[in-house]
Amino acid sequence: MAGEPLVVCTDVARTYGKGPAAVVAVHGANCVIAPGARIAVVGPSGSGKSTLLHLLAGLDRPTAGQVDHPGLARGPMARQIGVVFQGPSLLPPLTAAENVSLPLCIDGVAEDEATARAWSALEDLELASLASNLPDELSAGQAQRVAVARVLARRPRLILADEPTGQLDRDSARHVMAVLTAASDALGAAVLVTTHDARVARALRIQWYMADGRLVQPERAPREGETR
Ligand SMILES: Nc1ncnc2c1ncn2[C@@H]1O[C@H](COP(=O)(O)OP(=O)(O)OP(=O)(O)O)[C@@H](O)[C@H]1O
Ligand SMILES: [Mg+2]
Repeated sequence: MAGEPLVVCTDVARTYGKGPAAVVAVHGANCVIAPGARIAVVGPSGSGKSTLLHLLAGLDRPTAGQVDHPGLARGPMARQIGVVFQGPSLLPPLTAAENVSLPLCIDGVAEDEATARAWSALEDLELASLASNLPDELSAGQAQRVAVARVLARRPRLILADEPTGQLDRDSARHVMAVLTAASDALGAAVLVTTHDARVARALRIQWYMADGRLVQPERAPREGETR
């Protein structure tokens, strides 16, 4: 189990709809996410990034091929994969802090500890002053950062973040990427981030590309001292 890939995709495809209206969003993708890997999936709008991310997370089923999670098989998978969704995903009646702590409480973490972990994650994202705000009292970028905090507080082994910097200015984007990579260091978590921004992608060691539903993974030798 330890050291086994977190995700293995074999000839994965996802087609939306049927007949002449069918859209093939992902074509025959083959990829492996190793423990601790840091991957950017770069591609233009509509290239299939979100579709691929949902397949990797096990939130959507491929219409052909297979997605396996050999390195995650023993525990409840949902707790080990943290997904930052591209669109708004906070629960409107809950404060930012409650949005972060609720999944921990559902996981069985005691309320005090869940609250402490939520505050700590919000502090890491420089959001402590907004912890009591409701989602509609946050900017789109602040809400996006709360969604990142919500995932980090759960300490997953695989973080799948769908354009987590899409609503952010350059400095905030850099900060979120630094927090994600620091969390990867601290937790030993693998991180996969989709983006259309090459600058964001450069924060991660491995770059994959999506174009018209096709996943391309350029080979390159590791730099000296790199382990993953
Ligand atoms: N539920 C759906 N039903 C039908 N077609 C869909 C659906 N979701 C996505 N698509 C289509 O699949 C293709 C890939 O969409 P996807 O959302 O994966 O792209 P993306 O790379 O994430 O784009 P963006 O950068 O804009 O978020 C697009 O052509 C899109 O129109
Ligand atoms: Mg998308």
